[in-house]
Amino acid sequence: MPKALVLYSAGPGAIEQVAKEICAGAAQTGLDTALSSAGAAPALAEYDLVFAGSGVYGLGGFDKRVVELLAKADWQGKRACIFATHAGRGKTHVEAVAGELGKKGAKVAGTISIQLQGLGALIGRGKPTETDLVRAYAFGERQAYDLLGRRPAKEQEKRRIKGYRK
Ligand SMILES: Cc1cc2nc3c(=O)[nH]c(=O)nc-3n(C[C@H](O)[C@H](O)[C@H](O)COP(=O)(O)O)c2cc1C
Repeated sequence: MPKALVLYSAGPGAIEQVAKEICAGAAQTGLDTALSSAGAAPALAEYDLVFAGSGVYGLGGFDKRVVELLAKADWQGKRACIFATHAGRGKTHVEAVAGELGKKGAKVAGTISIQLQGLGALIGRGKPTETDLVRAYAFGERQAYDLLGRRPAKEQEKRRIKGYRK
């Protein structure tokens, strides 16, 4: 049975909220899915798919602890998905991290960057909207089904269209 990990920079904050939704979406497919902040230094080797995410903090982009964990892992034969929350300059950093993992042999299956709205986002007080969280959940769900080689049942598809999450 394959296993997935949702790794995120740190909580509490926007990235943790998004990470939890990705995790819930992936887990509802039946995929064994764990959630961990980078501070807990999870062993990436145990997982077939790693969702790796961070807030974007200044020119360096992703949180250093996430970057370091990703850099020292062995990516041969593994899948990765990259996600970020940001105040407007996230996509470049997501693509840079995805590119690095691709060079290390990972199959980068998908990325999602969530732009937080409002002035609060600039000082780390941004909150994802309900739509952002639905997108995150659906991303986790879709990637998990892909890994498992399955399709969502019809009823679940209907729910997703309505934005139903529970
Ligand atoms: C110190 C700091 C620097 C930031 N720098 C950037 C930046 O360069 N580009 C950007 O798009 N967002 C930037 N942001 C916004 C954060 O990316 C956004 O608030 C973050 O994704 C929220 O995640 P968190 O609440 O989990 O920390 C910055 C926020 C802080 C606090």
